[in-house]
Amino acid sequence: MELIVAVDKNWGIGKGNDLLFRISEDLKRFKAMTVGHAILVGKRTLDSFPGGKPLPNRTNIVLCFPEEECPPEVRKVTSVEEAVAVSKEYDVVYVSGGESIYRQLLPFCEKAHITKIHSAKEADRFFPNLDEDESWHITEESPIQSQDGLTYSFITYERT
Ligand SMILES: NC(=O)c1ccc[n+]([C@@H]2O[C@H](COP(=O)([O-])OP(=O)(O)OC[C@H]3O[C@@H](n4cnc5c(N)ncnc54)[C@H](OP(=O)(O)O)[C@@H]3O)[C@@H](O)[C@H]2O)c1
Repeated sequence: MELIVAVDKNWGIGKGNDLLFRISEDLKRFKAMTVGHAILVGKRTLDSFPGGKPLPNRTNIVLCFPEEECPPEVRKVTSVEEAVAVSKEYDVVYVSGGESIYRQLLPFCEKAHITKIHSAKEADRFFPNLDEDESWHITEESPIQSQDGLTYSFITYERT
């Protein structure tokens, strides 16, 4: 499994069940990386997608409790163990949020594709700081990009 996330300077990822920033180049990159593959998201992140609908042209695996209702086209899993087992059926599964899902699945991920935005906003959801975690190191870093007054870079971390 690999994961993909956009973090701000403080590793904030969301507020009020929404993203902190919408950078179109980052959203395009997320689409380009995940279309044709599978993403794994929590129920709240699914609810935050447009119309609460799964993202098109990729398998949407959703981690939630058995009694929760999900759209019929998603692949529902009800435990981390089941999520890990189901992920073996796909060439790659991109763990795509939110905080609760990232924290539980991080131990099963080998690679993390992180968009680091060099600004800070008030957040109520965070991603663990991989720069302070010795089990991860940076293997690729894009030049600094900018859009709408925001600067950011695409960074790949791999498990040491
Ligand atoms: N910046 C980014 O790249 C990015 C990407 C995706 C999402 N986000 C943001 O992240 C935020 C959402 O994160 P979140 O942590 O609130 O929600 P989440 O991780 O999307 O989903 C959590 C939901 O899944 C359920 N759940 C979690 N673990 C479970 C398990 N083991 N078994 C069954 N159900 C389980 C939770 O139930 P309980 O609460 O009842 O435990 C909760 O309903 C939003 O602000 C969103 O915009 C940011």
